[in-house]
Amino acid sequence: MLQLDNIRKSFTEPVKKITELFSKQARRIYAVDGVSLKVGHDEVLGIVGESGSGKSTLAKTVARIYEPDEGKIIFMGEDITHISHKKLLEYRKKIQMVFQNPYSSLNPRRKVKDIIGDVMRLHGLENDYSVNDALRAVGLDADYGNRYPHQLSGGERQRVAIARALALRPSLIIADEITSSLDASTQMQILNLLRKIRREHSMSMMFISHDLAVVNSVSDNIAVMYGGKVVEQGSAYDIISKPLHPYSQALIESVPDPYRGWNPKIADVENRNPATGCKFASRCPYASNKCYEKHPPFIHVSQGRKVACYLYE
Ligand SMILES: Nc1ncnc2c1ncn2[C@@H]1O[C@H](COP(=O)(O)OP(=O)(O)OP(=O)(O)O)[C@@H](O)[C@H]1O
Ligand code: SF4
Ligand SMILES: [Mg+2]
Repeated sequence: MLQLDNIRKSFTEPVKKITELFSKQARRIYAVDGVSLKVGHDEVLGIVGESGSGKSTLAKTVARIYEPDEGKIIFMGEDITHISHKKLLEYRKKIQMVFQNPYSSLNPRRKVKDIIGDVMRLHGLENDYSVNDALRAVGLDADYGNRYPHQLSGGERQRVAIARALALRPSLIIADEITSSLDASTQMQILNLLRKIRREHSMSMMFISHDLAVVNSVSDNIAVMYGGKVVEQGSAYDIISKPLHPYSQALIESVPDPYRGWNPKIADVENRNPATGCKFASRCPYASNKCYEKHPPFIHVSQGRKVACYLYE
């Protein structure tokens, strides 16, 4: 369904000192730094990583909200890395993004039925599938169509955002932190809804969260991101039961356990992304000199399982 080859996306670093204002050379930070991934038909690929690891930048690059600096995006066999505006509209019908904050992603001045209806009309789909069908698919009855976003709870708003994405019958949904702003029980309901949607509709999904437990609950496979790079990939079962990368291990350690408390083994230091070498080196308890020299290549550990760490050479 989707193949990413060595995607890089950078931004100009914000000016920190007044003297930098006059510097001719703007510094670039690579939010996504050489990511290669595949998402298969009907697969849910979970992307997990801490804040600032580049998850949203990757999502927006795949959705072509951003254009990558380097690399290739192949979607359903077609190279869509630099497609024209006209083709982009077609592509946006097939790839839908649902964001973290349903407050800002829904137009406050439009009723729910118009929010969903507008995108269907834009893509010429209003005759194939009705707004009520879309609402029903996310467990909301037709009455909700007449409400405005402020008349909905956070969970209901997120259901509307999912309904709007589903209404276009996409082949791929990118869900970026869609449960992060919800309380625990609403989060559970949305995750159950996603599982139901998966059973009923054939579609692939990139499911992004900083919360490993949430990612694990819906994903077939997981990619762990750190500092703009994927550092480990494998089946959800393998990543959770036997994490290999020291950062993945720390992530699992940090999932709250009522019996152990929170006990991450990694250091939280200022310099998170050294210019050369492994991006995790300054926080890694196993770092050696070599780790500071060159970023480790991926080591294929078994079928579908790879890790970027010198410990597995
Ligand atoms: N538009 C932008 N301009 C400049 N820098 C940006 C921009 N968007 C993201 N960044 C930087 O890129 C890095 C990755 O950000 P990104 O939002 O992709 O991380 P994330 O993994 O989604 O984090 P979070 O879990 O907090 O959502 C960060 O250092 C961020 O400051
Ligand atoms: S390559 Fe080195 S610094 Fe990076 S995670 Fe592995 S052991 Fe730690
Ligand atoms: Mg994000």
